Amino acid sequence: RGAAAVRPDLAGRHVLVTAGGTREYVDPVRFLGNASSGRQGYALARAALARGAASVTVVAANVALPEVAGARTIGVVSAAELRARVHEVAPSADIVVMAAAVADFRPADPATHKIKKDSAAPDTLALTRNPDVLSELLANRRPGQLLVGFAAETGGPDGGVLELARAKHARKPVDLLVVNQVGNGRGFEVADNAAVVLSLGGGETTIDRMSKDLVAHRILDLVVEHGD
Ligand code: CTP
Ligand code: CA
Repeated sequence: RGAAAVRPDLAGRHVLVTAGGTREYVDPVRFLGNASSGRQGYALARAALARGAASVTVVAANVALPEVAGARTIGVVSAAELRARVHEVAPSADIVVMAAAVADFRPADPATHKIKKDSAAPDTLALTRNPDVLSELLANRRPGQLLVGFAAETGGPDGGVLELARAKHARKPVDLLVVNQVGNGRGFEVADNAAVVLSLGGGETTIDRMSKDLVAHRILDLVVEHGD
């Protein structure tokens, strides 16, 4: 859709978007990260502003893109920082979109000095689990608040992409779960995206391969429909 055709159907809404991918430091110079670029999250922030949102806050984890003009951007590094900032902003948000790839685990005991190859480096890295921010948002949601989750799936021995995503939706019953197939040049670090959106009522909407800006508008179409 062209910019001129965008209707202000998010007028008055406060929107929180997380974008990018968290980093969990192993020592002062090394981290466990992921391939999320932040492009889909930033596209969602831009689209929300284009549709008249009263405010858009972006919690951006390690995003190497120009900030979205008109949005408030809060930079974070780790899952713990992302979690703290999200819980500050979420109580006043009407719509929360968790597009960020948040680390499930962090090093249990990060080294304070750079690990040297000739020191007695551990041959396994002990990890500890991070809290699930989206589950916490679900548990603390304020009346009328709409929650959108993302699920990046490759499929695997436990099931195909959609099967795994439906199971995830059952565990985290967000209003909308945007399912992306990732790996082998899909999803991360590319300009285009495609998705299936699972709605709380059981609906499933396919978004064909298109630019991340257009995918963002299709997702917000569903947000607006869901909020009616
Ligand atoms: N998420 C979160 N906090 C975490 C991990 C994930 O808020 N610690 C959010 C993501 O931002 C996303 C949704 O939960 O919106 C699903 O993330 P995903 O990694 O696909 O699902 P998990 O529940 O972590 O399951 P798994 O990684 O085992 O597939
Ligand atoms: Ca995960």
